Amino acid sequence: MDWTVKQGFEIEPFLQQLVGEARALPVSGKVADYIPALAQVNPDKVGLALATVEGKLYSAGDSTTEFSIQSLSKILGLVMAMNRIGDSLWQRVHMEPSGLPFNSIVQLEYEHGIPRNPFINAGAILIADVLASHYSASRQAFISFIRKLAGSDQIFVDEDVLQSEKQHGSRNAAMAYLMKSFGNVEGDVDRVLDHYFYQCSVNMTCEQLASSLTFLANRGLQPVTQRVICSRRDAHRVNAILSTSGMYDQSGEFAFTVGLPAKSGVGGGIVAIVPGYGVICAWSPRLNHFGNSCLGMHMITGLAEQLGLSVY
Ligand code: DON
Repeated sequence: MDWTVKQGFEIEPFLQQLVGEARALPVSGKVADYIPALAQVNPDKVGLALATVEGKLYSAGDSTTEFSIQSLSKILGLVMAMNRIGDSLWQRVHMEPSGLPFNSIVQLEYEHGIPRNPFINAGAILIADVLASHYSASRQAFISFIRKLAGSDQIFVDEDVLQSEKQHGSRNAAMAYLMKSFGNVEGDVDRVLDHYFYQCSVNMTCEQLASSLTFLANRGLQPVTQRVICSRRDAHRVNAILSTSGMYDQSGEFAFTVGLPAKSGVGGGIVAIVPGYGVICAWSPRLNHFGNSCLGMHMITGLAEQLGLSVY
């Protein structure tokens, strides 16, 4: 790939340039407000970080400001569930794109309560059921997993966001009950939703997210600690589903223009995995109508183009 031949290319100034260009663009998109606490964020924030498998960290803009990770948590929940129950997971959640918005419910009834993939809300709620029933304290297990990956015990849940998620989570509750009616959700729905809302409400920074996920760019092995986080096969599988479903109903366009496994969250974060090289995390709260950060997409596109990062 191109980055191997770009000797002498200065990455950090280029990240700063991308952030500067993004800040100068005409305002577009809208901060998520269907979870009211998310609308409290400063919409003008722009952060960018790149962590490499060689252990280097480059960043620019608001890359050390915490934000709500929201659906980025679905990657970590999935890795925990794969580690915990192995291949039986794939009988309860599939690996196909949904072709529908992230919070759509319609497919679930037609498809017997089995979500299309782990990155739509229904799929992540199913994963939350797995975690809630296989850990006696799933909240604690989840936050400990993230803290270990980030190498920091200073990662917390935003209690306002958590309460707001719970108060405005009727659609997620409907999906959980529908899956329960098919016997796919096994545990108590309140407990499942509690875990799901908890993991969505974690705050992290671009720098923490990029470095925490480097194991996915390194066949499951965390480069800095040399810890095995998941198997090589599972790292491949997570990246494959990210490629087809991580950017929701814009995943095809993202593959077409950028060509990287990636995941977005309605807090405005996007992470993109560059196998063999590293992980990019971009953050800016204004979202397009698919739920993907407008400036985050813009910056990742620019970085991938400049460094020739596409996996295709
Ligand atoms: O359940 C929800 O709707 C949110 N807590 C998470 C959704 C999300 O981040 C979708 N991403 N684009």
